[in-house]
Amino acid sequence: MRERTLTIIKPDAVSSKNIGKTLSRLEKENFNILGIKWIHLTTAQAQGFYHVHRERPFFPSLVRFMTEGPVVVMVLEKENAIADLRRVMGATDPAQADPGTIRKDLGTNIERNAIHGSDSSQSAEDEIGYFFSKMELV
Ligand code: CMP
Repeated sequence: MRERTLTIIKPDAVSSKNIGKTLSRLEKENFNILGIKWIHLTTAQAQGFYHVHRERPFFPSLVRFMTEGPVVVMVLEKENAIADLRRVMGATDPAQADPGTIRKDLGTNIERNAIHGSDSSQSAEDEIGYFFSKMELV
């Protein structure tokens, strides 16, 4: 089934000049880019995006990290986009991620893990709607 998912190239991957490497990995995996934005998240925007994690002990640090510099936010489309993106990203903790995955190659630790991807069709829908209007997806 053709699906849409949301991805964020996080501030660590942006500041280490890995936007190009991440994009070419995604293009090689045949994702179509339907929308792309360059954003420096505010604290409120990062808190809103990650509100499902608001009770977690790592939440304040995650919000600080996600606001430390700009990010690239994209809507990607392909067959099985949600599961495929998660396969290409690798496990949340780069130390546990399979060789050849984006997080294994570009991530630093469980927080500074280079890339975000939606984890279900409901979260993909919610996360896409958080950043993009229908008219912005082409
Ligand atoms: P992401 O897939 O964007 O979803 C939530 C984020 O919280 C995750 O990637 C990490 O950046 C961060 N995160 C998840 N678990 C932990 C943890 N145990 N400690 C610190 N950060 C975490």
